[in-house]
Amino acid sequence: MKKVISTVEELDFELSDLREMPAPKKVLLVKPTHFAVEYVINPHMQGNIGDVDKIAAMDEWEHLKKAYDELGLETKVLDGERGYPDMVFCANQSLPYIDEDGNKKVLMSIMHAQERKGEVEAIQKFYEESQYEIHHLDESKFNDFEGMGDALWHFKKGLIWGGYGFRSSKEVYELISEKYDVPVITFELLDDKFYHLDTCLCILDENTALIYPKAFTDEGLALINKVFPTVIEASKYEAEELFACNATSPDGKNVFIQQGCTDVNQKLRENGFNVHEFSTAEFLKSGGSVFCMKMMLW
Ligand code: ARG
Repeated sequence: MKKVISTVEELDFELSDLREMPAPKKVLLVKPTHFAVEYVINPHMQGNIGDVDKIAAMDEWEHLKKAYDELGLETKVLDGERGYPDMVFCANQSLPYIDEDGNKKVLMSIMHAQERKGEVEAIQKFYEESQYEIHHLDESKFNDFEGMGDALWHFKKGLIWGGYGFRSSKEVYELISEKYDVPVITFELLDDKFYHLDTCLCILDENTALIYPKAFTDEGLALINKVFPTVIEASKYEAEELFACNATSPDGKNVFIQQGCTDVNQKLRENGFNVHEFSTAEFLKSGGSVFCMKMMLW
């Protein structure tokens, strides 16, 4: 089963038809030693250059790391590299994968902004040491692709949700579908405040998604509503200011989310999730929160 789907008419499978995948058990994190806002490549960074409190950022990051440890996930921590203030957002430089035989593979990103391109090599070193089979995109064919910022694995299923428009090119998803032999449901993103798919779609478990509806086209919304039996919607304030949809549910039960998403949190609890709130205030200044500050691995 493989192909790129962009309309409801093209959806010719049910979730139960898809290949089962194991839930990730490891979490890659990058220490925010050199984290800062030094340039503006998304609207959230505007006005925040030089404004990061490094001690607070380290503190926030340590709390998150501890929470992954407490959930029983194995955390792997890399040091951030000088000159790459956004490297802490380690969801963006790659898209890892485990095939049906348990082989670990990874597709390395082509970062959209010049300022972040060098991060890919630094993250690649980790995959080399971890014996992943490493794949690259042909830079003469593709302009950009920002890994798990835009390409989200469905929880425990061989299905990818792929966003494009600001940081990733639509054409990449043909290749990903081919290479990984999985269907990819693609979306055009409309609002530059929601420049990555992980800022407006959070896959909480097999059946539940948390979204900010206004970031999607009507067709995109129809696709989400068709596939997920339960769709929780975030308000403009919680999605835009608090990055509610940049939450993460590492195990399909516990949700890590930026502090203060009162409305979303209530809906999460009503749907049986355990909510854990964290301050990512320093990282919000750079346009990122919980989801993009980690990479889930198998
Ligand atoms: N400053 C970073 C950038 O604009 C933030 C990345 C956040 N990552 C994410 N997946 N939303 O690239």
